[in-house]
Amino acid sequence: MMSLTQFFDSAWDRYCSLTPDAPKITGLLKERGENIINDHIAFRTFNLPGIDRLSLGGIFEEWGYQSQETLEFPEKKLLATYYLHSNPDLPKIFISELLLQNCSQPLQRWINSVAGGTPLPKKLTAEVFLKPNWNPVGYEDYIHFYAESEYAAWTAAFGIQVNHFTVFVNSLRSFSSLQVLDDFLIQNGFTLNESGGLIKGTPSEYLEQSSTMARKIPWKFRGGVEKEIMGCYFEFAKRYPIRGGQKLFQGFVPKSADKIFESTFEK
Ligand code: NI
Repeated sequence: MMSLTQFFDSAWDRYCSLTPDAPKITGLLKERGENIINDHIAFRTFNLPGIDRLSLGGIFEEWGYQSQETLEFPEKKLLATYYLHSNPDLPKIFISELLLQNCSQPLQRWINSVAGGTPLPKKLTAEVFLKPNWNPVGYEDYIHFYAESEYAAWTAAFGIQVNHFTVFVNSLRSFSSLQVLDDFLIQNGFTLNESGGLIKGTPSEYLEQSSTMARKIPWKFRGGVEKEIMGCYFEFAKRYPIRGGQKLFQGFVPKSADKIFESTFEK
């Protein structure tokens, strides 16, 4: 079994190939002497047997993570569960899944034919996040079902892999607030997600989040067809102590996360 560090390194490399802004921003922050800590890593999947969020979460439980609460996103037809590790320096793991029974019959059939067509290994390992999970989807299908669920189209195209890494803003020394970091990113030419405002959440909710907008990247579809589609985004999270105590809030705010999901939406 690979180590958690090896896994995060490999997942980061794969994620960067879909998120050209992430290594650029990391480079800019490192130039300022910042040491970057990951707040959380997020994955997207479908509620199909074997690859549902809890099955994927089991991979992290073997590494010592423990599942926390389940969050609901009724408008986007998603459920999510997050996992914390006893070592507070390790990123939280956030896994969402699309509830297929709440989608149209054609979309259900499409996802079943895409994700159900490839037999799963008997025992899921972290490899599932690091290599293609199924054959490339058809570009026409991607476009057709994008209109119903961007989440379904994204996950069908890219498979089960990291959707985003997140900079833990509290660990940055040269940015006094998330707003200051956002201003810096905008000045450096990055486009941030403005759905629900540049900063989602407030100190009274104990969590503020911003993210870049995903960029279009070339991607291979069925039959070797190459098209440019929306890849992944980079997120920034600032956490606040709960009710004046010392301990930082470790959870998520569904209302904010709901808007962050839109960072892969094409304008
Ligand atoms: Ni996130």
